[in-house]
Amino acid sequence: MQSAQRARPGTEWWRNAVIYQVYPRSFADADGDGTGDLAGVRRRLPHLAELGVDALWFTPWYRSPQADGGYDVADYRQIDPAFGTLEDAEALITEALELGIRTIVDIVPNHVSDQHAWFQEALAAAPGDPARDRFWFHDGRGPGGDEIPTNWTSSFGGNTWTRTTGPDGKPGQWYLHMFAPQQPDLNWSHPDVAAEHEAVLRFWYDRGVAGVRIDSASMLAKDPELPEVGEHHAPGAHPHFDRDEVHEVYRRWRKIADSYDEPRLLVGEVWLEDNDRFVRYLRDDEMHMAFNFDFMTRPWDAEALAESIRATFASHAAVSAPPTWVLSNHDITRPVTRYGREDSSFAFSAKRFGTPTDLALGARRARAAALLTAALPGVLYVYQGDELGLPEVEDFPEGVREDPMHFRSGGVDPGRDGCRVPLPWSADGPTFGFNDTGTSTWLPQPSGWGSFAAESQASDSDSFLSLYREAIRLRRSEPALRGEAFAWTETAPGVLAFRRGEDFTCVVNLGDALADLPAHTGALLASAPLEGGRLPADAAVWLRT
Ligand code: GLC
Repeated sequence: MQSAQRARPGTEWWRNAVIYQVYPRSFADADGDGTGDLAGVRRRLPHLAELGVDALWFTPWYRSPQADGGYDVADYRQIDPAFGTLEDAEALITEALELGIRTIVDIVPNHVSDQHAWFQEALAAAPGDPARDRFWFHDGRGPGGDEIPTNWTSSFGGNTWTRTTGPDGKPGQWYLHMFAPQQPDLNWSHPDVAAEHEAVLRFWYDRGVAGVRIDSASMLAKDPELPEVGEHHAPGAHPHFDRDEVHEVYRRWRKIADSYDEPRLLVGEVWLEDNDRFVRYLRDDEMHMAFNFDFMTRPWDAEALAESIRATFASHAAVSAPPTWVLSNHDITRPVTRYGREDSSFAFSAKRFGTPTDLALGARRARAAALLTAALPGVLYVYQGDELGLPEVEDFPEGVREDPMHFRSGGVDPGRDGCRVPLPWSADGPTFGFNDTGTSTWLPQPSGWGSFAAESQASDSDSFLSLYREAIRLRRSEPALRGEAFAWTETAPGVLAFRRGEDFTCVVNLGDALADLPAHTGALLASAPLEGGRLPADAAVWLRT
């Protein structure tokens, strides 16, 4: 009955939700070809129900050449054949909902695949043809148009323009791609681009999808004059980033979302350092929430995390959107690995091979971080495999990596494959239960992967999975955790403690020494055993106070 209540329409179900991110290619493989699929997710729905999540966010499951893990969409109205069919998606949405779990899909509005019908049409058309206006085709600079139109830097490193070849075999115009060349940027001042995305939103909302995660949400608008990026730009006037006119898109999308009986949810991927610019995306007529990357990228340090929590509350005070708490996703080094490093902050530009890592330390901290984030008011995101305590895989055999970030860095950046390795479900077998056929997984699993298997963790009360399950269960059953009340408590340096409501306190020890606990009547959950009534280093506890 609890699940039926969870899926009740009409309430702002998401305000306090736990949202689990599924990377379908690596979740579970039912057809046994080594690649995860939607039938695999359907089969494993009991795992997700048992974990207690409210919704699933699927990274793109649409038809795609997978030049960037599906973020190169060739057709929004079809499921990639490797993952299944539209009927599979509809069945999955329905079956999940029967378990009280809603579905969120990924929308990638900044760009499409170079295999998308629009881009193929544009390539076949002559310069100046309206088919090219849906993208950013431009003549090159200099004699013969041989020089790139701007020196903008791609989010994947390198430049942002690729030259086309005309039907006569001669070099032609250039087109803009803020990511890989297989991801041409759309021109958001073209009416077709806006209309098509609005139709795509309705297509999925009409199939029962509860909301969308909006990819690269601050990047859609570009200055049509294509100026170079300068030292300083007035807020909202950067040539290709966080421009003011982008907000019009989300105002229209919010109206569509609100026109449904159960209003649909807009979640933004908004990477912005300036918190005030960030919360502009969360104004009441725009998105409902956005990922808290400020918190996610901070090091395992009491003051740094406290500062981020304070800044999050301060900036969100101006809007009604809830804060979100995120430890990782399909782009980020797994917490168990990251927190086991001397520099435990995250920056794309800082990823390097061979960084010394203490995985036991990282695992302790990742467990503590799970309790910290689960105890904060707002929305909790969990990336698949973090509930199993998976580390980043860093030692792939030669030739199996796929991430364009790795290749475009000239091999300096290990890329994001290491957090996308197929999940281990059972302790034994050639693919640890990822499939039944034993067909090798699309990215190889390390030989020790079976020690993280979901099935063995489920029956071990000290496991990562049991910690996550219990934390999510208490998040739902503790009235203090369902409310918004939050107050810091005095602590020793290196220790974070806060009260939620009348009778709940969370203490996290990020220092080196044992930490004293405030007076309490019981411990509800701890990431590590208490020592003589005190909290060891790199551990967290939830107390009844
Ligand atoms: C987002 C996605 C990332 C993708 C990029 C381009 O940042 O999370 O995986 O590569 O957008 O679509």
